[in-house]
Amino acid sequence: MTISENDTRAYHLGDRASLGWEQTISESLRDTASPYMEALKERRAYGEVIGDLLEGRGMIRDGFRILEVGGGYGNLAHYLLGRFGRITATMVDISPVFCGRQRLTLAAFGDRATVIEADIFDYLGRHGPFDLIISNENMADFPSLVDIPKRRLIEYMEGKGPIDPNGSDDSDLRYLEQARDFIRSLDIDPQDAPDTVHLNTGAARFIELAMGTTDRLFVVEHSSDWSLPRSMADFLRDPRTDRWPKKIILFSHHEVTICFEHLKRLVDKGGLLREGGGLMDLFQIRDDTEIRYILLSGSIQTEKHEIIGEFIDHIKEYQWLLIHR
Ligand SMILES: C[S@@+](CC[C@H](N)C(=O)[O-])C[C@H]1O[C@@H](n2cnc3c(N)ncnc32)[C@H](O)[C@@H]1O
Repeated sequence: MTISENDTRAYHLGDRASLGWEQTISESLRDTASPYMEALKERRAYGEVIGDLLEGRGMIRDGFRILEVGGGYGNLAHYLLGRFGRITATMVDISPVFCGRQRLTLAAFGDRATVIEADIFDYLGRHGPFDLIISNENMADFPSLVDIPKRRLIEYMEGKGPIDPNGSDDSDLRYLEQARDFIRSLDIDPQDAPDTVHLNTGAARFIELAMGTTDRLFVVEHSSDWSLPRSMADFLRDPRTDRWPKKIILFSHHEVTICFEHLKRLVDKGGLLREGGGLMDLFQIRDDTEIRYILLSGSIQTEKHEIIGEFIDHIKEYQWLLIHR
């Protein structure tokens, strides 16, 4: 397998980009009528819970200029614009399909919402500043170095050069150099890695660029290093053998789960402040007899059980992180 940079741009620039192919937590909990609400202790929509978190930590207030990258169908911004009557939202999304959806969802807010079709890596640094940047369930789409053989990486880092019976081309060397720099700069121990290594290089670059444009950044994403709440630890499966980023195969593109531990090292290195946790704790999953039955028995008697079981299995792997000065 050759090393490459996972790139979802072609998929997102095409006309088949859709959230129908993947289940985002924010869409699953878009409103309190959603069937996924059955999994929660209290029926509270995604926007409300995130709005409370951001407001409670001083990350959002009236008058703020917000940038949301990859807003998907625009429902989180819709909630925030409705709740905070004097904020403005700049929505930056690479996908013409998603931009179209956001323009429709946010039309009622007039010029308080602007949708811009652009790659966030081209946009950041040229525009702003913003009071808050939000990236909800996007970072796994950002470029990542993938399929790096651990043995080659370690040999390269030890200065032994690219030892590969098939030879190495220039791009391999460039990627090995990038991987080495990423690992060294974050003080990560490569001996810890699985045999095939993936690295969230794009997510790290995004955080650096974003924090050059704002004092406050909020990210949520599917992670590789999640932890189960103690109350759920006996009921949920944990098939992992390590906590490093994983490649996930989705319709017409791959994503790479985020190792938050690596990103936290970047934040700490930059002298920034942070707070984070699991979405499962934030949204307060029920842990009563019915939930225990669904998770322990694995038996699906009803559609409701299937919906709850699938949702909990998914949300357990999501983390959030607030970064600020
Ligand atoms: C998985 S969807 C998440 C959508 C939404 N935030 C949600 O939670 O439902 C990823 C979003 O990021 C956008 N995106 C991916 N890469 C991007 C990039 N480089 N620049 C801007 N937007 C990007 C996609 O077009 C899409 O809207």
